[in-house]
Amino acid sequence: MPVIRLVNVTKKFGSFVAVDHLNMTIQDGDFVSLLGPSGCGKTTTLRMIAGLETPTEGEIYIDDTLVFSDEKGINLSPDKRNVGFLFQNYALWPHMTVYKNIAFGLENLKWSKADIEKRVEELLKTLQIEEFRGRYPAELSGGQQQRVAIARTLATNPSILLMDEPLSNLDAKLRNGMRAELKRLHATSNSTFVYVTHDQSEAMTLSTRVCLMERGLLQQYCPPLELYGEPTNLFVADFMGNPTMNFVDVKARSTNDGIELTCPSMNLLFTPLEAVEIDESEDYVLGLRPEAVLIQDDGQIEGTVISSLPSGMETTLSIEVKDVRLSSVVFGNIDFAMDSKVNLTFKGNTYILFNKRTRNKVAMGSLTIK
Ligand SMILES: Nc1ncnc2c1ncn2[C@@H]1O[C@H](COP(=O)(O)OP(=O)(O)O)[C@@H](O)[C@H]1O
Ligand SMILES: [Mg+2]
Repeated sequence: MPVIRLVNVTKKFGSFVAVDHLNMTIQDGDFVSLLGPSGCGKTTTLRMIAGLETPTEGEIYIDDTLVFSDEKGINLSPDKRNVGFLFQNYALWPHMTVYKNIAFGLENLKWSKADIEKRVEELLKTLQIEEFRGRYPAELSGGQQQRVAIARTLATNPSILLMDEPLSNLDAKLRNGMRAELKRLHATSNSTFVYVTHDQSEAMTLSTRVCLMERGLLQQYCPPLELYGEPTNLFVADFMGNPTMNFVDVKARSTNDGIELTCPSMNLLFTPLEAVEIDESEDYVLGLRPEAVLIQDDGQIEGTVISSLPSGMETTLSIEVKDVRLSSVVFGNIDFAMDSKVNLTFKGNTYILFNKRTRNKVAMGSLTIK
């Protein structure tokens, strides 16, 4: 069952289009990340779902209720939309204890004392903050405050939880821990999460689906591994992944054996997974993930190691093949000498051909070295 549906939702600030005809359906139990570079419209989208920002155009449904429609003149206030929010600058009430901060919303809803106690205890346990129940926010670390803020938001059992970069104020180690907790929380709470982040690895690791936006426009909306493996255009391909995908400018020509790709440093044969039309007058870009640039003794392309960055678990190499630089990830604890020679090869069918002019994906396929 879809819980949130955006239909042609547009937000203009004056003549500036912050969100452009966004269509998106979020299913019950999804963990959807709104992802994209700063200024692409993520916060604006989340605020429109919450009812804190009025769209210029379009319709928004929550749980089959039309909560916004410019045509029908409907605009339900935030408190009538049955959603919980957690924003980047969560403010706990400084004069209330942890317990009271969490209980406060329930008291307002006139829950019985016994029910409040049960619910707060449950949340203190889930978020592992039982020992802090009597403390004031000033007596907690950033991560502990964050967990209290999450508990407070979850207290009323919102079926939909909207979060805007809730972990961005935390240091890296704490952020990793909180990511795991959020994912567990999602799995155990039966809530639908809509989560704003500019961090592709956060979106990748947490979400069931990612909505990647650029300049107010939806680029791709799908499960994270699909976004990584089958990017629909050059923007998506470049945004997802660290180190980023390699892009090589090529000319393409259809032959009986497959598609011949040429650039000054390599002659390759590309075998697409599905038949495609190639226009020889167009320019193309070949995309190769660093983990698909393989170093192998019998590889047929020779390259020179420009840099080697071992991290213990894996090593990121920059390799020069004539005029082209390729990054490659080698798994394991291994280092390479600068300026040493390595042999490259390709395997699998994760290579992607893009049209340089339209920036769209043309085909995925395998590569053979000619
Ligand atoms: N109240 C506003 N008035 C004018 N422009 C705004 C306002 N809010 C946001 N914007 C602009 O809309 C664009 C999208 O903003 P936002 O949704 O906050 O981006 P994100 O959260 O993806 O970083 C940005 O260019 C921002 O400057
Ligand atoms: Mg934002």
